[in-house]
Amino acid sequence: MLHLKHVLPKISLVATAVAATILLSGCGDDAAPAGTVTLKTAFNQSENNPQYKALVSFSDKLEAATNGRYKLEIHPNELLGDQRASLELVQSGAIQMAVVANPLVENFNKNFSVLAMPYVYDNPEHQRKVFTSGVLDSLFASTKGTGFEVVTAYTAGARSVYTKGAAVKNPSDMQGKKIRVMQSDTMIKMLSCMGGTGVPMGQGEVYSAIQQGVLDGAENNEITYADLKQYEVAPYFSTTRHVMVADLLVANESFLAKMDEGDRELFRKLAKESTQTQFELWDKALDGARQVAKDNGATFTEVDIKPFQERCKPLQSAMLTTPEQKALYEKIRELAE
Ligand code: GCU
Repeated sequence: MLHLKHVLPKISLVATAVAATILLSGCGDDAAPAGTVTLKTAFNQSENNPQYKALVSFSDKLEAATNGRYKLEIHPNELLGDQRASLELVQSGAIQMAVVANPLVENFNKNFSVLAMPYVYDNPEHQRKVFTSGVLDSLFASTKGTGFEVVTAYTAGARSVYTKGAAVKNPSDMQGKKIRVMQSDTMIKMLSCMGGTGVPMGQGEVYSAIQQGVLDGAENNEITYADLKQYEVAPYFSTTRHVMVADLLVANESFLAKMDEGDRELFRKLAKESTQTQFELWDKALDGARQVAKDNGATFTEVDIKPFQERCKPLQSAMLTTPEQKALYEKIRELAE
Protein backbone atom coordinates (compact mmCIF):
# COMPACT_ATOMS: atom_id res chain seq x y z
CA MET A 1 0.00 0.00 0.00
CA LEU A 2 1.21 3.45 -0.84
CA HIS A 3 1.93 5.76 2.08
CA LEU A 4 2.31 9.49 1.71
CA LYS A 5 5.56 9.20 3.59
CA HIS A 6 6.99 7.07 0.82
CA VAL A 7 6.09 9.48 -1.93
CA LEU A 8 6.99 12.60 0.03
CA PRO A 9 10.46 13.33 -1.27
CA LYS A 10 9.23 12.90 -4.81
CA ILE A 11 5.71 14.16 -4.54
CA SER A 12 6.29 17.67 -5.83
CA LEU A 13 8.18 16.27 -8.81
CA VAL A 14 5.87 13.45 -9.67
CA ALA A 15 2.45 14.67 -8.55
CA THR A 16 1.85 16.84 -11.56
CA ALA A 17 3.02 14.16 -13.95
CA VAL A 18 0.93 11.47 -12.24
CA ALA A 19 -2.11 13.73 -12.13
CA ALA A 20 -1.69 14.57 -15.80
CA THR A 21 -1.40 10.90 -16.73
CA ILE A 22 -4.46 9.97 -14.72
CA LEU A 23 -6.48 12.83 -16.15
CA LEU A 24 -5.46 12.26 -19.75
CA SER A 25 -5.66 8.48 -19.74
CA GLY A 26 -9.14 8.38 -18.22
CA CYS A 27 -7.59 5.60 -16.14
CA GLY A 28 -10.24 3.17 -14.92
CA ASP A 29 -12.70 3.90 -17.68
CA ASP A 30 -11.61 0.75 -19.50
CA ALA A 31 -12.99 -1.38 -16.68
CA ALA A 32 -16.37 0.34 -16.70
CA PRO A 33 -19.23 -0.96 -18.81
CA ALA A 34 -20.07 1.15 -21.87
CA GLY A 35 -22.19 4.08 -20.79
CA THR A 36 -20.83 4.27 -17.25
CA VAL A 37 -19.73 7.75 -16.25
CA THR A 38 -16.79 7.55 -13.84
CA LEU A 39 -16.51 10.40 -11.40
CA LYS A 40 -12.84 11.07 -10.78
CA THR A 41 -12.50 11.82 -7.09
CA ALA A 42 -9.37 13.14 -5.39
CA PHE A 43 -8.54 12.05 -1.85
CA ASN A 44 -5.45 13.11 0.05
CA GLN A 45 -5.08 10.15 2.41
CA SER A 46 -4.82 6.39 2.21
CA GLU A 47 -7.26 3.59 1.45
CA ASN A 48 -7.35 2.82 5.21
CA ASN A 49 -9.04 6.09 6.02
CA PRO A 50 -12.76 5.82 6.95
CA GLN A 51 -13.49 8.60 4.45
CA TYR A 52 -12.02 6.50 1.65
CA LYS A 53 -14.15 3.55 2.74
CA ALA A 54 -17.27 5.73 2.87
CA LEU A 55 -16.52 6.90 -0.69
CA VAL A 56 -16.24 3.29 -1.85
CA SER A 57 -19.57 2.47 -0.27
CA PHE A 58 -21.10 5.60 -1.85
CA SER A 59 -19.76 4.50 -5.24
CA ASP A 60 -21.18 0.98 -4.90
CA LYS A 61 -24.59 2.30 -3.93
CA LEU A 62 -24.59 4.91 -6.69
CA GLU A 63 -23.64 2.34 -9.28
CA ALA A 64 -26.40 -0.01 -8.13
CA ALA A 65 -29.05 2.72 -7.88
CA THR A 66 -28.30 4.13 -11.35
CA ASN A 67 -28.05 0.71 -13.03
CA GLY A 68 -24.36 1.26 -13.66
CA ARG A 69 -24.67 4.74 -15.13
CA TYR A 70 -22.39 6.35 -12.50
CA LYS A 71 -19.57 5.26 -10.26
CA LEU A 72 -16.64 6.89 -8.48
CA GLU A 73 -12.99 6.43 -9.42
CA ILE A 74 -11.14 7.41 -6.26
CA HIS A 75 -7.51 8.55 -6.39
CA PRO A 76 -6.03 8.43 -2.86
CA ASN A 77 -2.69 9.56 -1.40
CA GLU A 78 -2.61 13.05 -2.93
CA LEU A 79 -1.97 11.57 -6.37
CA LEU A 80 -4.05 14.34 -7.87
CA GLY A 81 -2.23 16.95 -5.80
CA ASP A 82 -2.86 18.41 -2.36
CA GLN A 83 -6.32 19.57 -1.35
CA ARG A 84 -5.84 23.05 -2.73
CA ALA A 85 -4.79 21.67 -6.14
CA SER A 86 -7.58 19.10 -6.22
CA LEU A 87 -10.19 21.73 -5.44
CA GLU A 88 -8.93 23.67 -8.46
CA LEU A 89 -9.24 20.53 -10.60
CA VAL A 90 -12.86 20.18 -9.47
CA GLN A 91 -13.58 23.84 -10.23
CA SER A 92 -12.19 23.53 -13.73
CA GLY A 93 -14.05 20.26 -14.37
CA ALA A 94 -10.83 18.27 -14.96
CA ILE A 95 -12.13 15.96 -12.22
CA GLN A 96 -15.62 15.69 -10.78
CA MET A 97 -15.12 15.43 -7.02
CA ALA A 98 -12.68 15.79 -4.14
CA VAL A 99 -12.65 15.63 -0.37
CA VAL A 100 -11.23 18.87 0.96
CA ALA A 101 -11.02 20.19 4.48
CA ASN A 102 -13.41 22.97 5.40
CA PRO A 103 -10.66 25.62 5.81
CA LEU A 104 -9.93 25.37 2.09
CA VAL A 105 -13.54 26.18 1.22
CA GLU A 106 -13.57 28.99 3.76
CA ASN A 107 -11.40 30.86 1.27
CA PHE A 108 -14.49 31.07 -1.00
CA ASN A 109 -17.13 31.94 1.58
CA LYS A 110 -16.10 33.07 5.07
CA ASN A 111 -19.31 31.68 6.56
CA PHE A 112 -17.82 28.20 6.27
CA SER A 113 -15.39 29.15 9.03
CA VAL A 114 -18.14 28.54 11.60
CA LEU A 115 -17.93 24.80 10.79
CA ALA A 116 -14.34 24.77 11.99
CA MET A 117 -14.50 27.11 14.95
CA PRO A 118 -12.52 25.92 17.92
CA TYR A 119 -14.77 24.01 20.32
CA VAL A 120 -18.01 24.63 18.37
CA TYR A 121 -19.15 20.98 18.63
CA ASP A 122 -19.54 19.35 22.03
CA ASN A 123 -18.80 15.83 20.80
CA PRO A 124 -18.95 13.61 17.66
CA GLU A 125 -22.69 13.00 18.10
CA HIS A 126 -23.34 16.73 18.05
CA GLN A 127 -21.28 17.09 14.89
CA ARG A 128 -23.12 14.16 13.26
CA LYS A 129 -26.45 15.85 13.95
CA VAL A 130 -25.22 19.10 12.42
CA PHE A 131 -23.96 17.35 9.28
CA THR A 132 -27.11 15.27 8.75
CA SER A 133 -29.86 17.67 9.86
CA GLY A 134 -30.04 19.84 6.74
CA VAL A 135 -29.02 23.05 8.58
CA LEU A 136 -25.99 23.34 6.31
CA ASP A 137 -27.81 22.94 2.98
CA SER A 138 -27.89 26.61 2.00
CA LEU A 139 -24.28 27.11 3.06
CA PHE A 140 -23.28 24.11 0.93
CA ALA A 141 -25.05 25.54 -2.12
CA SER A 142 -23.45 28.97 -1.61
CA THR A 143 -20.30 28.27 -3.63
CA LYS A 144 -22.35 27.83 -6.82
CA GLY A 145 -20.93 30.20 -9.39
CA THR A 146 -17.33 29.38 -8.44
CA GLY A 147 -17.34 26.02 -10.24
CA PHE A 148 -18.13 23.68 -7.37
CA GLU A 149 -20.75 22.79 -4.80
CA VAL A 150 -20.48 21.01 -1.47
CA VAL A 151 -22.53 17.81 -1.52
CA THR A 152 -21.96 16.57 2.01
CA ALA A 153 -19.63 16.76 5.02
CA TYR A 154 -17.55 14.05 6.67
CA THR A 155 -16.10 13.99 10.13
CA ALA A 156 -12.39 14.14 10.68
CA GLY A 157 -12.68 13.76 14.43
CA ALA A 158 -11.15 16.13 16.94
CA ARG A 159 -7.71 17.55 16.23
CA SER A 160 -4.96 17.59 18.84
CA VAL A 161 -1.39 18.80 18.89
CA TYR A 162 1.56 16.40 18.53
CA THR A 163 5.19 17.25 18.84
CA LYS A 164 8.72 15.98 18.94
CA GLY A 165 10.60 16.51 22.19
CA ALA A 166 7.90 16.71 24.86
CA ALA A 167 4.16 16.74 25.42
CA VAL A 168 2.15 19.97 25.42
CA LYS A 169 0.23 20.28 28.68
CA ASN A 170 -0.78 23.92 28.64
CA PRO A 171 -0.60 26.97 26.35
CA SER A 172 2.80 28.01 27.72
CA ASP A 173 4.28 24.74 26.41
CA MET A 174 3.30 25.91 22.94
CA GLN A 175 5.46 28.99 23.09
CA GLY A 176 7.96 29.16 20.21
CA LYS A 177 6.66 25.92 18.71
CA LYS A 178 6.15 25.82 14.95
CA ILE A 179 3.12 23.67 14.32
CA ARG A 180 1.86 22.78 10.86
CA VAL A 181 -1.73 23.84 10.13
CA MET A 182 -3.98 23.59 7.08
CA GLN A 183 -3.81 26.36 4.50
CA SER A 184 -6.19 28.93 6.02
CA ASP A 185 -5.99 32.12 8.05
CA THR A 186 -8.34 30.77 10.68
CA MET A 187 -6.08 27.81 11.35
CA ILE A 188 -3.05 30.11 11.68
CA LYS A 189 -4.96 32.33 14.11
CA MET A 190 -6.13 29.32 16.06
CA LEU A 191 -2.57 28.16 16.60
CA SER A 192 -1.59 31.62 17.83
CA CYS A 193 -4.46 31.67 20.29
CA MET A 194 -3.28 28.31 21.58
CA GLY A 195 0.14 29.82 22.26
CA GLY A 196 2.21 28.59 19.31
CA THR A 197 2.97 29.52 15.70
CA GLY A 198 0.92 27.99 12.88
CA VAL A 199 2.78 27.12 9.68
CA PRO A 200 0.39 26.45 6.75
CA MET A 201 1.27 23.60 4.35
CA GLY A 202 -0.27 20.69 2.43
CA GLN A 203 -0.48 17.35 4.25
CA GLY A 204 2.02 15.60 1.99
CA GLU A 205 4.93 17.70 3.24
CA VAL A 206 4.29 17.39 6.97
CA TYR A 207 6.23 14.21 7.76
CA SER A 208 9.48 15.35 6.22
CA ALA A 209 9.12 18.93 7.51
CA ILE A 210 8.93 17.61 11.09
CA GLN A 211 11.72 15.13 10.41
CA GLN A 212 13.97 17.87 9.07
CA GLY A 213 13.21 20.20 11.98
CA VAL A 214 11.37 22.78 9.89
CA LEU A 215 8.42 22.10 12.20
CA ASP A 216 8.21 21.13 15.89
CA GLY A 217 5.01 19.24 15.25
CA ALA A 218 1.55 19.31 13.75
CA GLU A 219 -2.07 18.98 14.81
CA ASN A 220 -4.50 16.41 13.53
CA ASN A 221 -6.82 13.56 14.47
CA GLU A 222 -5.58 10.17 15.70
CA ILE A 223 -6.49 8.36 12.47
CA THR A 224 -4.45 10.63 10.22
CA TYR A 225 -1.64 10.65 12.79
CA ALA A 226 -1.44 6.86 12.75
CA ASP A 227 -2.19 6.31 9.08
CA LEU A 228 0.55 8.67 7.92
CA LYS A 229 2.94 7.32 10.57
CA GLN A 230 3.57 10.81 11.90
CA TYR A 231 4.17 9.28 15.34
CA GLU A 232 7.59 8.33 13.98
CA VAL A 233 8.64 11.97 13.88
CA ALA A 234 6.36 13.52 16.53
CA PRO A 235 5.68 10.90 19.20
CA TYR A 236 4.07 13.17 21.84
CA PHE A 237 0.33 13.36 21.20
CA SER A 238 -1.40 15.80 23.56
CA THR A 239 -5.20 15.66 23.55
CA THR A 240 -5.98 19.36 23.14
CA ARG A 241 -9.04 18.44 20.98
CA HIS A 242 -9.12 22.09 19.97
CA VAL A 243 -11.16 21.80 16.80
CA MET A 244 -13.37 19.34 14.92
CA VAL A 245 -12.89 20.40 11.32
CA ALA A 246 -15.43 19.24 8.76
CA ASP A 247 -14.14 17.61 5.60
CA LEU A 248 -16.29 18.46 2.59
CA LEU A 249 -17.14 16.35 -0.42
CA VAL A 250 -17.17 18.85 -3.28
CA ALA A 251 -18.46 18.28 -6.82
CA ASN A 252 -18.04 20.15 -10.08
CA GLU A 253 -20.99 22.44 -10.63
CA SER A 254 -21.58 21.91 -14.34
CA PHE A 255 -21.28 18.15 -14.02
CA LEU A 256 -24.09 18.28 -11.43
CA ALA A 257 -26.17 20.62 -13.57
CA LYS A 258 -25.89 18.32 -16.59
CA MET A 259 -26.91 15.17 -14.74
CA ASP A 260 -30.34 13.79 -15.46
CA GLU A 261 -32.64 15.07 -12.69
CA GLY A 262 -33.49 11.63 -11.34
CA ASP A 263 -29.83 10.63 -11.22
CA ARG A 264 -28.91 13.91 -9.56
CA GLU A 265 -31.46 13.32 -6.81
CA LEU A 266 -30.11 9.82 -6.24
CA PHE A 267 -26.58 11.18 -6.23
CA ARG A 268 -27.46 13.82 -3.62
CA LYS A 269 -29.39 11.40 -1.43
CA LEU A 270 -26.65 8.76 -1.46
CA ALA A 271 -23.93 11.35 -0.86
CA LYS A 272 -25.79 12.47 2.26
CA GLU A 273 -26.27 8.89 3.38
CA SER A 274 -22.53 8.30 3.02
CA THR A 275 -22.04 10.78 5.87
CA GLN A 276 -23.85 8.51 8.31
CA THR A 277 -21.75 5.55 7.10
CA GLN A 278 -18.59 7.59 7.44
CA PHE A 279 -19.32 8.58 11.07
CA GLU A 280 -19.82 4.91 11.95
CA LEU A 281 -16.60 3.86 10.20
CA TRP A 282 -14.72 6.67 11.92
CA ASP A 283 -15.91 5.65 15.35
CA LYS A 284 -14.87 2.05 14.74
CA ALA A 285 -11.40 3.03 13.50
CA LEU A 286 -10.47 5.42 16.31
CA ASP A 287 -9.33 3.02 19.04
CA GLY A 288 -7.34 0.95 16.54
CA ALA A 289 -5.51 4.06 15.32
CA ARG A 290 -4.57 5.06 18.88
CA GLN A 291 -3.33 1.55 19.52
CA VAL A 292 -1.21 1.47 16.36
CA ALA A 293 0.39 4.77 17.35
CA LYS A 294 1.06 3.53 20.91
CA ASP A 295 2.47 0.24 19.67
CA ASN A 296 4.88 2.27 17.60
CA GLY A 297 6.12 4.38 20.47
CA ALA A 298 3.65 7.28 20.67
CA THR A 299 2.76 8.69 24.08
CA PHE A 300 -0.75 10.06 24.58
CA THR A 301 -1.05 12.76 27.24
CA GLU A 302 -4.52 13.78 28.48
CA VAL A 303 -4.66 17.54 28.59
CA ASP A 304 -6.89 19.90 30.54
CA ILE A 305 -8.55 21.70 27.64
CA LYS A 306 -9.94 24.63 29.70
CA PRO A 307 -6.92 26.97 29.37
CA PHE A 308 -6.92 26.37 25.62
CA GLN A 309 -10.67 26.98 25.43
CA GLU A 310 -10.31 30.21 27.37
CA ARG A 311 -7.57 31.46 25.10
CA CYS A 312 -9.64 30.64 21.99
CA LYS A 313 -12.70 32.62 23.14
CA PRO A 314 -11.59 35.92 21.56
CA LEU A 315 -11.02 34.07 18.28
CA GLN A 316 -14.50 32.56 18.48
CA SER A 317 -16.06 36.01 18.84
CA ALA A 318 -13.87 37.42 16.10
CA MET A 319 -15.04 34.63 13.80
CA LEU A 320 -18.71 35.57 14.19
CA THR A 321 -18.81 38.86 12.35
CA THR A 322 -21.62 38.54 9.76
CA PRO A 323 -25.32 37.98 10.59
CA GLU A 324 -25.12 34.71 8.59
CA GLN A 325 -22.22 33.48 10.68
CA LYS A 326 -24.05 34.31 13.89
CA ALA A 327 -27.25 32.59 12.68
CA LEU A 328 -25.31 29.50 11.63
CA TYR A 329 -23.50 29.38 14.95
CA GLU A 330 -26.84 29.53 16.79
CA LYS A 331 -28.27 26.72 14.65
CA ILE A 332 -25.23 24.55 15.37
CA ARG A 333 -25.38 25.22 19.09
CA GLU A 334 -29.14 24.46 19.17
CA LEU A 335 -28.32 20.93 18.07
CA ALA A 336 -26.05 20.33 21.08
CA GLU A 337 -27.57 18.06 23.72
C1 GCU B 1 -7.38 15.63 8.29
C2 GCU B 1 -8.49 15.90 7.35
C3 GCU B 1 -7.98 16.16 5.96
C4 GCU B 1 -6.92 17.18 5.97
C5 GCU B 1 -5.84 16.81 6.92
C6 GCU B 1 -4.81 17.90 6.99
O1 GCU B 1 -6.83 14.40 8.03
O2 GCU B 1 -9.34 14.78 7.32
O3 GCU B 1 -9.02 16.60 5.15
O4 GCU B 1 -6.33 17.28 4.72
O5 GCU B 1 -6.38 16.60 8.19
O6 GCU B 1 -4.44 18.28 8.09
O7 GCU B 1 -4.36 18.38 5.95
